[in-house]
Amino acid sequence: MAARALLRLHPPALPLPLPLLCLLPLLLLLLLASSAHGGGGGGLRVGFYEDSCPDVEAIVRKVVAKAVHDDPTANAPLLRLHFHDCFVRGCEASVLLNSTEGNQAEKDAKPNHTLEAFDVIDDVKAALEKRCPGTVSCADILAIVARDAVSLATRAVAEGRWGKDGNLYQVETGRRDGRESSAREAVKNLPDSFDGIRKLIKRFASKNLGLKDLAVLSGAHAIGKSHCPSIAKRLRNFTAHRDSDPTLDRLYAAKLRQKCRRPKDKTTELEMVPGSSMTFDTAYYGLVLKRRGLFHSDEALLKNEETRDLVHEYSRGSEERFLRDFGASMVNMGRVGVLTGAQGEIRKKCAVVN
Ligand code: HEM
Repeated sequence: MAARALLRLHPPALPLPLPLLCLLPLLLLLLLASSAHGGGGGGLRVGFYEDSCPDVEAIVRKVVAKAVHDDPTANAPLLRLHFHDCFVRGCEASVLLNSTEGNQAEKDAKPNHTLEAFDVIDDVKAALEKRCPGTVSCADILAIVARDAVSLATRAVAEGRWGKDGNLYQVETGRRDGRESSAREAVKNLPDSFDGIRKLIKRFASKNLGLKDLAVLSGAHAIGKSHCPSIAKRLRNFTAHRDSDPTLDRLYAAKLRQKCRRPKDKTTELEMVPGSSMTFDTAYYGLVLKRRGLFHSDEALLKNEETRDLVHEYSRGSEERFLRDFGASMVNMGRVGVLTGAQGEIRKKCAVVN
């Protein structure tokens, strides 16, 4: 459309030379692609499937609710999947692709070894393919599933104090699926639990996300669990004096050392927020202030004035503000590097390209 309008406004005055004529289809394609993409999440909107698959959100919610009913710890990995997707190549479902001969996919990169719940995504996709074949992208499934997972874990939503539709926030859709996935890119782009504040800010900025997004989205660590390798370095020999990480409460460090006797222990599970790691609330920020956040990256939020102020504010119990801000930052994250319009494809199965 944009290309046609452009030609209408600027009709070629003279017949075009042959090499330029050959390039015309390519130029038109580029123009179409850029107008469809629009940057900054352009092309995404709430209700993208209202004509093509009106029940999409109800179908996703049903599958997620069943998964969480069967396993109440399933919310957290479903939320995490969307983050790990968006930070590598953008939110285009590259995290779901299987490795192939000659290509190690993101899924098999070290930071993704503890990702879970791929089966729930497959169940959602199968249900949607039955109702609206070839219509809903795996990237949008990840975004809707993350929204549903966190909504189901939020008390204010469950108790009907947060609007009537059972959603913490409205999710934008219209993403398309990519065709590539690289383990190396995952290692390069995903934040590390030992990152300091400067590195975290840089990583988020490279995805067009600001300090507030960093502080707010870290609040996702209100739910879920971790494993010893993600904190082992904090517990022993962190400093030149062989102490634990000084940003970690000493008593808590001793407790964690008891649990993680072997640094490489991948089976012991560590609750993010002991006693409430299935409820999405502001408890995480209280822990960070007590220097009991599990990761060095959690405690790093105290090293910058803006992020520190937000930690204080949310920990003081501004739950409503936190929940609103979290929804806004999830929408921001969901816009990172999206493919829209004629870009990419709608995968038939989320683990393989068409
Ligand atoms: C700020 C940088 C971040 C770092 C360094 C980080 C790092 C980690 C690590 C190391 C784990 C535990 C892995 C394991 O040992 O099993 C984890 C778990 C988790 N992360 Fe993050 N994360 C970050 C941001 C986020 C964001 C932005 C979200 C979502 C919006 C998120 C959601 C989660 C969830 C829900 C879990 C628990 C998963 C489960 O229970 O299976 N994280 N994160």
